[in-house]
Amino acid sequence: MTSASSARSTGEAAGPAGPRVVAAWNPQQGSDRARRLFAGRFDSTPDGVWAAPGRVNIIGEHTDYNGGLCLPIAIPHRTYVALRARQDDQIRLVSAFGGEVLDWSGSVSGLQPGQTPTWVGYVAGVAWALARQGLPVDGFNAALVSCVPTAAGLSSSAAVECAVGLALDEVNGLGMGDSDAGRHHLVKIAVSTENDFVGARTGDLDQSASLRTQRGHALLLDCLDGSTRQVPFDLAAEDLELLVIDTRATHSHATGGYGQRRATCEAAAVMLGVDTLREVDDLDEALDRLANDEMRRRVRHVVTEIARVEGFVALVEAGRLREVGPTMNASHDSLRDDYEVSCPELDVAVDAARRAGAIGARMTGGGFGGCAIALVDASRRQEVAEAVVEAFSRHGFGAPQLYVVTPSDPAGRVD
Ligand code: GLA
Repeated sequence: MTSASSARSTGEAAGPAGPRVVAAWNPQQGSDRARRLFAGRFDSTPDGVWAAPGRVNIIGEHTDYNGGLCLPIAIPHRTYVALRARQDDQIRLVSAFGGEVLDWSGSVSGLQPGQTPTWVGYVAGVAWALARQGLPVDGFNAALVSCVPTAAGLSSSAAVECAVGLALDEVNGLGMGDSDAGRHHLVKIAVSTENDFVGARTGDLDQSASLRTQRGHALLLDCLDGSTRQVPFDLAAEDLELLVIDTRATHSHATGGYGQRRATCEAAAVMLGVDTLREVDDLDEALDRLANDEMRRRVRHVVTEIARVEGFVALVEAGRLREVGPTMNASHDSLRDDYEVSCPELDVAVDAARRAGAIGARMTGGGFGGCAIALVDASRRQEVAEAVVEAFSRHGFGAPQLYVVTPSDPAGRVD
């Protein structure tokens, strides 16, 4: 998860009159920015520039750490890293996230979990996770820039880990970036960075989205065994668009609330005698055996959400993308009522979008703030966006930030 305290970064404005939709940098812009930052800090040129995207999860929320199914896409907003391997063990970093330039120096052998600033953890922690697996990692100089909005629930931290992971993979000749099996291994390295070095116990969703998606597709990810299926997700062919509404709300209990939900699911699995909630076949029978109402509601969300992913994918693969609205809406309602990870800003965004004619709308990501998504007819996008902006103003919330995203490229070398 992203840190709740980070400053927000935005790309350049684009789009017609009405609420502003913020566009991502194109790869050349991102690469140029990373190279400029590198040149200003180090008296050498980088070995290359690598980039990794943030993600939007279309459906399948809080299922990843329960061995369930999820369906993310990569978004065009990416983190760029210009990196050069060193002949020694030293690490020199410079970042410019949200306009704030930060420096850090250390060494691979000196890295210890919890001992670096959080942003450094997402970068240097990758070298730590590689070394921990016995893989040879040299020191490096790196400059990082990003247009993935931070603290918005669009996986800006996973984008950093995955861009750095691919760069270190290539300059150290580890060869993981070239195949899906290798990228699956890199996902595990990035998740270990986040879980074991930074100390956030998240699942595999964000890093898998960044490394294993394909342009034009959503990734059906089975978190039980790491298997995937690429699901064609051609919004334009149906005259549809995916509007992302960043509420800009971050609630202080985000980290604690996430950990509590995960702990409750794990306790429920123990009580039911299964390894993960994925193995629950008979929901009613399972609910009867659980300790209390809160636990029952958490389990009901997870089990029904996994079924919703299956239903959603079946519709998309049958060419019935326009019929997924009720499934998206049911996902949001379950996250709001049973899993209790929504918040007033997300509920207002979803309600306003639905009332203005969205085909379906739901919160996306971990919740407690961050983003909602609305699937809309392209011709109605402005109307839906205006309705959301107006509803925020009526409720006294700050203006939301709006993005339109398409399933974009996974992490890779840019130049
Ligand atoms: C956050 C976590 C993911 C996943 C989602 C909820 O984004 O990083 O691993 O659990 O929340 O689906």
